[in-house]
Amino acid sequence: MSFNTFGHMFRFTSFGESHGAAIGCVVDGCPPRIPLQAADIQKYLDKRRPGQSRFTTQRQEPDTVKILSGVFFDEASGQQVTTGTPIMLQIDNVDQRSKDYSAIKDKYRPGHAGYVYDVKYGLHDYRGGGRASARETAARVAAGGIARKIVPGLSVRGALVQMGPHQIDRTRWDWNEVDNNPFFCPDPVQAKFFEDYLDGVRKAGSSCGAVIEVVAEGVPAGLGAPVYAKLDGDLAAALMGINAVKGVEIGDGFGVAALSGEDNADEMRMGNDNKPVFLSNHAGGILGGISSGQPVVARFAVKPTSSILTPRKTVDRYGRDTDISTKGRHDPCVGIRAVPIGEAMVACVLADHYLMHRGQVGEGTAWPFKPGA
Ligand SMILES: Cc1cc2nc3c(=O)[nH]c(=O)nc-3n(C[C@H](O)[C@H](O)[C@H](O)COP(=O)(O)O)c2cc1C
Repeated sequence: MSFNTFGHMFRFTSFGESHGAAIGCVVDGCPPRIPLQAADIQKYLDKRRPGQSRFTTQRQEPDTVKILSGVFFDEASGQQVTTGTPIMLQIDNVDQRSKDYSAIKDKYRPGHAGYVYDVKYGLHDYRGGGRASARETAARVAAGGIARKIVPGLSVRGALVQMGPHQIDRTRWDWNEVDNNPFFCPDPVQAKFFEDYLDGVRKAGSSCGAVIEVVAEGVPAGLGAPVYAKLDGDLAAALMGINAVKGVEIGDGFGVAALSGEDNADEMRMGNDNKPVFLSNHAGGILGGISSGQPVVARFAVKPTSSILTPRKTVDRYGRDTDISTKGRHDPCVGIRAVPIGEAMVACVLADHYLMHRGQVGEGTAWPFKPGA
């Protein structure tokens, strides 16, 4: 079996390899009459694009997206809109340098997918990792650009909150700072520190990990289902499905184990708009697998890049011991470009659940009930 499709009602199938002609996806299930231009998608691809600072790979990919189907110029509204049919998005690969990989073509990079591909499929595309390359994540970011338009009033923002062992100071969190530094870091002081830290990591021929936090606001209460389609379960699967992700937390995550029941209780009071106000958000906006209307908060841990200059022990495809040192163009901290990818996966999960919720339950809610009703 080959699994290249995400989602249920909002679905996309991604295609392409790191060093193939193009990558992209076909999005199916997008409702009709949603205004959609390539620019709506391009702005998110531009955030993920490589080669934008000395802290990411120098591969120069413009990542220009083309919408090949599923849109139509609607004269009534005077704009291009979705038609409800499959939307094909294509992004050409223009800066492949396959020869960079010829020296390591028969050797496995420890931490990369070559060994397991060979065991499972009997071959692996050593040029950039083929399908295991994070080039594939451009397709996810493109699909996410459409997903963001499906839930009315939804905002999904991500930020890097830890690099290597160094966390940000959350009291300095400022969303406006995220686009002011090359790390998508909301703490301007720590962002300055990360420059020197990552320069040191790179010069040492090493790499480092990161933690990313994604916050979705404007998520209506009621998305998700209590047993096999828990919103938190689907978010965890979607984020864990990003290359190099080894851990996912929702709300306080692993931290809840240390809280008392009193501290963990997100107490409730009625607000002025006939909706409850939660006095804290340890749950990360999800109760019983269903969104509560609070911001949905997810964090994920990204491991250090496997491609490093420092030699490591490995074996080759013929079962011989050898050493490997990876030259060529790589991100010293892949967690940086994982920020827009995490945002996209959260947006896709929320769009999928929004459409499933609408399909089963419809719009609106009867809550709060009238006493005696
Ligand atoms: C944005 C991004 C860029 C990446 N670039 C590289 C890279 O240049 N070299 C590398 O070894 N891994 C890179 N990775 C990670 C690999 O794709 C990933 O480790 C590999 O597919 C094995 O999968 P796993 O780590 O999920 O087990 C990148 C990941 C992301 C999210």
